[in-house]
Amino acid sequence: MPNYKLLTPGPLTTTDTVKKEMLFDHCTWDDDYKKITLSIREKLLKLAHVSEPEYTVVLMQGSETFGVESVLTSVIGKEDTLLIAANGAYGERMGDIAEHAGISYLMYKEEYDQIPSGEKIGEILKEHPEITHVSMVHSETTSGILNDIASVAKVVKAAGKTFIVDAMSSFGGVDIPVGELGIDFIISSANKCIQGVPGFSFIICNREKLMESKGKARSLSLDLYDQWETMNKDGKWRFTSPTHVVLAFAQALKEMEEEGGIPARAKRYEENNRLLIQNMAQMGIYPYIGSEHQGPIITTFLYPEHHNFSFQEMYQYIKDRGYAIYPGKVTDADTFRIGNIGEIYKEDIEKLCSIIKEFLEEK
Ligand SMILES: Cc1ncc(COP(=O)(O)O)c(C=O)c1O
Repeated sequence: MPNYKLLTPGPLTTTDTVKKEMLFDHCTWDDDYKKITLSIREKLLKLAHVSEPEYTVVLMQGSETFGVESVLTSVIGKEDTLLIAANGAYGERMGDIAEHAGISYLMYKEEYDQIPSGEKIGEILKEHPEITHVSMVHSETTSGILNDIASVAKVVKAAGKTFIVDAMSSFGGVDIPVGELGIDFIISSANKCIQGVPGFSFIICNREKLMESKGKARSLSLDLYDQWETMNKDGKWRFTSPTHVVLAFAQALKEMEEEGGIPARAKRYEENNRLLIQNMAQMGIYPYIGSEHQGPIITTFLYPEHHNFSFQEMYQYIKDRGYAIYPGKVTDADTFRIGNIGEIYKEDIEKLCSIIKEFLEEK
């Protein structure tokens, strides 16, 4: 069996105990199973620092884009207009989703190493009173930049608009006071900072806004309200649920609590990230994002000057020694990415850096 740890932003390295949960083929309509879904939903609300009846949770089958697409195509009505603030591929993908669904939208693009500005968004909202919803990504996994959702939330809420956040690679690894910020829909997934496996995303919704979306969805399977309505009765999923993934996720949430919840996990990720950047700097390899906006999840590194290696060569060298890293995704520089979330500890970061050092010395 191939064996390496993932230094990628999800799917990521999970514990054996999380993987082991998937050995059981659970019945979907069984009460025990429905209780697991209900308990997952309760725990997710707690992690977001919100509670019923103001907020509620929907679990949605599919990869992470399905979660984002579900929200955008369900809550933005035919008369509404969306403002997308994008500084990476995932923000831009929201534009793609809007195009496909025929959603009226405006795109505010920033450079990939800059964060969208609350002030600028405020100006756009003044110029375009037709805007009803604003969406953005929190941790842009494209580069590793951590966007300032708090300053944007202030402006969006002051203007009375609906705020949608893709917190795919940050929820659970960065503490987000969802209620305090007034985020109306926040989307994340089973296979990122909660350290489960891929198969569904989850959406924490302002209940009133979710109720308003009834009948607006442009898709049957991604209808957020309908999904909620069925799931909220007794925990039964509307269509076939990814049972093995759900069991693994329930275990992952338990392990997260045992670790000390979001504070402990955020601390481990921050320490991993700091150590990684520090050790890479000793080899003359520096982050693409400035330190003021670098997030604690994944780091984009610029190729060292005078390099003479290909990413593929380095990737293979590292993989043969037990780790998988990511190619770069920014368009304006030669880069590669290293994620430090998942079941990853100080020893892994040290080992990885010594492998990279060895590789560069051999080149
Ligand atoms: C911030 C963010 N949004 C959306 C996605 C889309 O995920 P997927 O490719 O799983 O659909 C990702 C994937 O890594 C992501 O990091």
